[in-house]
Amino acid sequence: MNDFVFSYPTKVYFGEGSAKEALSSELAHTGNTVMLAYGGGSVKKNGIYDEIVTILREQGKGIVDFSGIMSNPTYAKVQEGAALAKKEQVDYILAVGGGSVIDCCKIIAAQAKTEEDIWSMEFVQHKLPHHAIPLGAVVTASGTGAEMNGGAVITNEALHIKTGVLGFAPRFAVLDPSYTLSVPFRQVISGAFDTLSHAMETYFGQSDQNNVSDDVALAVMRNTVTNMRRLLMDENDLQARGNLMWDSAMAENGILKCGRLTDFQAHQIEHQLGAYTDCNHGQGLAVIQPVYYRHILKDAPEKFAKFAKIVFNEDTAEAGLEAMEKFIKDCGLPTKMEELKSRTQITAKLLRQVADSTNVIQCNPRELSKDEIYEILVECV
Ligand code: NZQ
Ligand code: ZN
Repeated sequence: MNDFVFSYPTKVYFGEGSAKEALSSELAHTGNTVMLAYGGGSVKKNGIYDEIVTILREQGKGIVDFSGIMSNPTYAKVQEGAALAKKEQVDYILAVGGGSVIDCCKIIAAQAKTEEDIWSMEFVQHKLPHHAIPLGAVVTASGTGAEMNGGAVITNEALHIKTGVLGFAPRFAVLDPSYTLSVPFRQVISGAFDTLSHAMETYFGQSDQNNVSDDVALAVMRNTVTNMRRLLMDENDLQARGNLMWDSAMAENGILKCGRLTDFQAHQIEHQLGAYTDCNHGQGLAVIQPVYYRHILKDAPEKFAKFAKIVFNEDTAEAGLEAMEKFIKDCGLPTKMEELKSRTQITAKLLRQVADSTNVIQCNPRELSKDEIYEILVECV
């Protein structure tokens, strides 16, 4: 085990109907003005918005509405939210949505407390924000685990960069599996694949022998696959949705990362593909990850063999990878880039730009060159 410091900033309220208990306890002694932040409107259709507004009104809170947070949230949207939060002197931010809404709010919360530009603060001056408006998260679509960490993935459209910006973790998170019942099934499965990907990316990073974090990651992977299979049989299986919701939080709340290094090269490639195409995160990973693993299979043969045995009950590393590729197909996830939504045409030039702007990871089984990242992207077409 490598040395580490672990602390746990987010209080979790898990279960059907848990929003009422969470909001009543967590907001009881806070200021009166709550920014209610959400996405493109799903929460208005499925009744979650009305439910939350009723709870807030019962507590006498004033509500500042902030809507329209898009998937792959942009830095411009962060600035819009921060300006509103400052103008309305917001005391608390409540993010109601999936990873995009929660991430956007993490940076709104910090940007609203400083006159400096957070992007240049973090990436030019290499400083982190010290203050933020307190934030709570109500998860309506699971998969990213954004509700239990302080990192936010933001797209800076002007710079063509989609990357992790460090904010503050939500103080509390509501995980009500029934809230996910209205999520389009394709999104449910892409979210769950993102969870699987987080556990895989953590596991394939460098660790010492018999590291407990490796074993916990394998358990999270196996459980994610099992419950995804259950949902393929019955989309409304609430128990499976609940398991996936907790798998999602477990994969990104830092527990799997204790005492080891992580890989996340597939994520780095996908984020840059997303910066250029605005593709769906989980679906982009489903295309990239198997191709990446074919490139590094021989660099971590024992790890791939253990992954094959425990997650897919296969005897060899190669058979495990084949089983993963078949699983992706069985889930109806994309396997080629042309199946991904793209706002711009995929060309060799675009893929070169994606490769050249991708962060290269150094603690994965083998460090890739930019040319190899380009080859991986070309193989995804
Ligand atoms: O915008 P609305 O109308 O709400 O619709 C959303 C959106 O279209 C819909 N949705 C959410 N809850 C719903 C619902 N539709 C019906 N019923 C509900 N209950 O789902 C769609 C996708 O939502 P989004 O939040 O974009 O998806 P996801 O949770 O997959 O988040 C993706 C973002 O998170 C980042 C990704 O890069 C991407 O930007 N990630 C964040 C991470 C983190 N902070 O730890 C880690 C991840 O690796 C990831 O990079
Ligand atoms: Zn992810």
